Amino acid sequence: MQIPILFFLATLQVFQINTITCKGNPNFHNITTVLVFGDSSVDTGNNNYVTTFAKANHNPYGQNFPGHVPTGRFSDGKLVPDFLVEELGIKETIPPYLQPNLSNFELISGVNFASAGAGYDDFTGSFFDVIPMSQQPGYLRQYFEKLVSIVGEKEARMIMSRALVVISAGTNDFLFNYYTLQIRKLQFNISSYQNFVQTRLNNFLQELYSLGLRIMVVAGLPPIGCLPFQKVVESLVIRKCLQNQNWDAQSYNDKLKKLLQNTEKNLEGSRLLYSDIYSPIMKMIKNPSKYGFVETRRGCCGTGIFLETGPLCIATASMCSNSSKYLFFDSVHPGQEAYQFIFKYSFQRLLQQYFKNSTHEDRYMNERKYSLH
Ligand SMILES: *[C@@H]1O[C@H](CO)[C@@H](O)[C@H](O)[C@H]1NC(C)=O
Ligand SMILES: *[C@@H]1O[C@H](CO)[C@@H](O)[C@H](O)[C@H]1NC(C)=O
Ligand SMILES: *[C@@H]1O[C@H](CO)[C@@H](O)[C@H](O)[C@H]1NC(C)=O
Ligand SMILES: *[C@@H]1O[C@H](CO)[C@@H](O)[C@H](O)[C@H]1NC(C)=O
Ligand SMILES: *[C@@H]1O[C@H](CO)[C@@H](O)[C@H](O)[C@H]1NC(C)=O
Repeated sequence: MQIPILFFLATLQVFQINTITCKGNPNFHNITTVLVFGDSSVDTGNNNYVTTFAKANHNPYGQNFPGHVPTGRFSDGKLVPDFLVEELGIKETIPPYLQPNLSNFELISGVNFASAGAGYDDFTGSFFDVIPMSQQPGYLRQYFEKLVSIVGEKEARMIMSRALVVISAGTNDFLFNYYTLQIRKLQFNISSYQNFVQTRLNNFLQELYSLGLRIMVVAGLPPIGCLPFQKVVESLVIRKCLQNQNWDAQSYNDKLKKLLQNTEKNLEGSRLLYSDIYSPIMKMIKNPSKYGFVETRRGCCGTGIFLETGPLCIATASMCSNSSKYLFFDSVHPGQEAYQFIFKYSFQRLLQQYFKNSTHEDRYMNERKYSLH
């Protein structure tokens, strides 16, 4: 891993941008805006402003975040979208869209619409009373109006079409809705539920496209059978990964790759990239010491016996002595160290791909295709 990562960083240096208002002929190398949609894997604090119990704006979350503050991120520190905007030289972290009084700079350089607990299946988010994936584009419409009032309509459309979009969801649909509460299991076998979820995902992508977004990175599922939560639910004593759930996640990911290829063909000028988060997490689980971990089977927060996450991972929960040595911070979510590796592993490939193909610029700059319904 060493050499490619260094190469990647060196590559990025060359393309780093310092201003947010590049004029002239924009292209893929000049990413100045990042927009994020999804669940707790990427929510940087929207749920702080939503009436739900799915919140992480309390200790011990955020203990390794700059300033050691709980921000609403379901981890001890930064999430993948934070590492992304930092690596691109845009800003340090990416704020939640619902945060009051975002500056013009924050709006133009990118915000986050994700909501912890969300799923592509509306029913999933309804357990937690959060903003389901299907409602996140509504906030994007509002965001676009704000951009228009700051930079004018032409520039606002340009910003949207050049933005790098990150989408990460789906885990809750399977983890809670299908495997744990088993509500959808009454209606669907796993294969047909995967298709159901991906139909929703496809609608979601089409909607973002119709609103003017073009370059989208879609994360697949993690090895769900290796999340500490699942190990507790299924077998507290053995604590090994549930192989069936991992196979399900892999088959979902294979379908997702095909879906993205097909949908990209149908949405002219779009670029839909698959982000593999399954492999880096498996690598860390299979070879913990190589990545500096001593524990991958239980979360740092909590006893490892209960299902500590969100409202159950609180200041009085028992904590491991050093969360940097744990892959998972709570029973569902990776810690900052793990997220940093996931970022390097998956975005390294993606951004290299992305930088390679400048032929896409022409398609993507085809202004006739910018339509906002
Ligand atoms: C970024 O945009 C500027 C201004 O349009 C352009 O001069 C520069 O070549 C672009 N950077 C890359 C790496 O293409
Ligand atoms: C947001 O701005 C308004 C008006 O400028 C101000 O009254 C309010 O206190 C600000 N809120 C926060 C959270 O900064
Ligand atoms: C799953 O359900 C679908 C639709 O109901 C059906 O066509 C398919 O054969 C089922 N697959 C399995 C493995 O049972
Ligand atoms: C925690 O572990 C990390 C990585 O092994 C190490 O760099 C750090 O110094 C440790 N922190 C404490 C407080 O022991
Ligand atoms: C780059 O573009 C070429 C031709 O347009 C295509 O064959 C190739 O698959 C593309 N590569 C990536 C990584 O998108």
